Amino acid sequence: MLALGSLVLAQGVNAAARQTPSIFAPASTPAAEVAGYAWLVIAICAVIFVIVGGMTLFALYRFRARPGDEGREPPQIYASSQIELAWTVVPILIVFVLSLVTARTILALQKDERPEGWLEVTAIGHQWWWEFHYPEYGFTTANELHIPLSEGADPWPTFLNLQSQDVIHSLWVPRLSGKTDVIPNRTNHLWMDPHEPGLYVGQCAEYCGTQHAGMLLRVVVEPREDFERWVAEQQRPAVARESLESERALFEQTACISCHTVRGTVARGEFGPDLTHLMSRATLGSGVARNDRANLIEWVTNPDHLKPGARMPAMQLAPAEINGIVDYLVSLE
Ligand code: CUA
Repeated sequence: MLALGSLVLAQGVNAAARQTPSIFAPASTPAAEVAGYAWLVIAICAVIFVIVGGMTLFALYRFRARPGDEGREPPQIYASSQIELAWTVVPILIVFVLSLVTARTILALQKDERPEGWLEVTAIGHQWWWEFHYPEYGFTTANELHIPLSEGADPWPTFLNLQSQDVIHSLWVPRLSGKTDVIPNRTNHLWMDPHEPGLYVGQCAEYCGTQHAGMLLRVVVEPREDFERWVAEQQRPAVARESLESERALFEQTACISCHTVRGTVARGEFGPDLTHLMSRATLGSGVARNDRANLIEWVTNPDHLKPGARMPAMQLAPAEINGIVDYLVSLE
């Protein structure tokens, strides 16, 4: 009965979890390990809850005050070696089992080196956005991580190096992997082998300042051919359009270029996100707004409107200049 109940509960949770970033709808091996572990801990805790709660209710009922009890002391009982031994040994056994399972899960998930043939991505946490560098392919992008589907006879898992540019962040995409801290002056590792294509949302999971909650993360899982097409697109430098020559010149004359890179131009800044293929991304400001012309104008005019505290300054440009710069930005496909 209890097993049936928890099965129904688990399936209900799974259905709801598929729509949201939940650890109970794992779509890759590390996330499945974490989910299995979580269910085990919940099951053990549920059994403890039922036993302790049941005994409390039993005692409340069995030893309740009855008529005629007034002024009479209940029987006083001092110590029971058997009971004390039981409630010491049983919890120790439970903690022992839990620590063994924890150690097994950690050992199964921890990899300090990239296995042969895995995709390597270096994720760098910034206040408040993510930089993704693909060392094998030689390009950098931001906030939207693309990785290949990993399934069947020819799996292609992704191995992530986690680094921070400033403070401690934490990378967490609940359906793909457990959360792992991103620590300055240290490289942590994480891996994921998604079994279903689609969009997976995640978020910085360690308080890192004003816009911690606005440090969102999107992972796009694509079949091999789609991923390779995306890589090829990202690898090419920005296309220089003759019709936008003056807009490009305007962009290159502003301070934008000291923080942003547009490959193939003089813009080589590294403080902010790489903009070479800005329009290949669905969102702006690490997921806080849709990436479209109207929001880009808002963003360039005053980033604080969309993301209070954002590190990008309002450049105090004239409306005509903002329009020109945004014309150039929307051409970066
Ligand atoms: Cu980065 Cu919280």
